[in-house]
Amino acid sequence: MASFKYQLSNRIGPVTVEDYRRLARRRIPDMVWSYVDHGAEDQKTLLANRAAFDRYAFRRRVLTGNEATDLSTTVGGQRLDLPVLLAPLGSVGLSHWTGERGAAQAAERAGTVSIVSTASTYSFEEVAAATERDHFVQLYPWADPRSGRHDLTLALIERARRAGYGAMFVTVDVAVPGNREVEKRLGMGHPPIMTPGRVLNAAVKPRWWWNFMRYRRMSLRNLTEAAGARAAVDSVGAQLRMMRAELNWDDFAWVREQWKGPLFIKGVVDADDAERAVDLGADGVVVSNHGGRQLDGDVATLDALPAIAARVGGRAEVLLDGGIRRGSDVVKALCLGAKAVCIGRPYVYGLGAAGPAGAEHVVRILREEIARVMTLIGVADLKELEPGLLLRAGEPVPVRALSPPPG
Ligand SMILES: Cc1cc2nc3c(=O)[nH]c(=O)nc-3n(C[C@H](O)[C@H](O)[C@H](O)COP(=O)(O)O)c2cc1C
Repeated sequence: MASFKYQLSNRIGPVTVEDYRRLARRRIPDMVWSYVDHGAEDQKTLLANRAAFDRYAFRRRVLTGNEATDLSTTVGGQRLDLPVLLAPLGSVGLSHWTGERGAAQAAERAGTVSIVSTASTYSFEEVAAATERDHFVQLYPWADPRSGRHDLTLALIERARRAGYGAMFVTVDVAVPGNREVEKRLGMGHPPIMTPGRVLNAAVKPRWWWNFMRYRRMSLRNLTEAAGARAAVDSVGAQLRMMRAELNWDDFAWVREQWKGPLFIKGVVDADDAERAVDLGADGVVVSNHGGRQLDGDVATLDALPAIAARVGGRAEVLLDGGIRRGSDVVKALCLGAKAVCIGRPYVYGLGAAGPAGAEHVVRILREEIARVMTLIGVADLKELEPGLLLRAGEPVPVRALSPPPG
């Protein structure tokens, strides 16, 4: 018989991703929070990503005898314990001093990998040295603004290869930076605009403030070895100058020639684009709109997924990101053709609230939720997730011939 657990207060720790979000909100200063949690302009795409999941309900079958215990899969040649990866996020060190290094450590403890951003506050080499498995790397195909040459990108590719990264994700949805007005209002521009109020708002988060001043993880360490505010402003400025709207498919083909390992294109929502990337040698496609931070009015990623999966799913690994906050979201994405998903903000909520242990817990929460949802709908195996397991939420169940229960 279970015994009592005795504790002094009835406060329990976070049990959902949203709980971590609320906690992180309290621990991270407003300026940084505006960078992490908001999207472009009216935030329509940010909200659309979430809303798309709510348009589906599960077609639940009973008495199947199926229990989902093994959620393992492979992505980019790596075996993962669950179909969830950590998406590349720039400047994670602003939210928690352990930054991308802490995120990658959390990922591997939870049985998955992190995709380390080019715009990270720990260099590719620093993350690789602090972790055991081969994580993945994200690349912005930058070019020198004067000559248009790719020297820096080539150097980054070479560094990622030498540091042992497994797969490369080329992000293509940032022809120009998104118009993130909440950030502008809070002074989180380039350069950041500090006011006494903003300094005070950060200073009253003493744990954050202390670690921020002590570790100074604010500059983009793949571009500079220097720490501190000046290096941060310079490196972000260099990044902005190197983003060029003229980048085109030849640049993607060029990266394909340089990188011998698995290559993914990230930021695609159109099946023609996905097909073109695969024709040029992409091994995978991430259906993504940058978490609603770029084009406001972009299609929700879940709505873009079925067409892309139908077009290239047989030839390439199709991943999805944007708005995943629950295990049920992951299951819906897999039903509609994704092999796995990436989460962005959720792991920063974990980091901001409780450091790497918080980020690890976020992934574990999702794992538990995925397994429970699959068991409740009567599916034991990720491979059995298919569109027929979903219904349109709020609509009567269509009258149709019943297929046999799964399993
Ligand atoms: C704060 C922040 C920074 C990001 N930085 C990058 C980046 O450097 N490179 C990149 O490819 N995507 C970046 N993204 C987009 C994510 O990789 C991912 O597409 C998005 O966060 C997924 O949506 P979600 O946050 O709702 O899970 C960033 C997203 C956020 C929220």
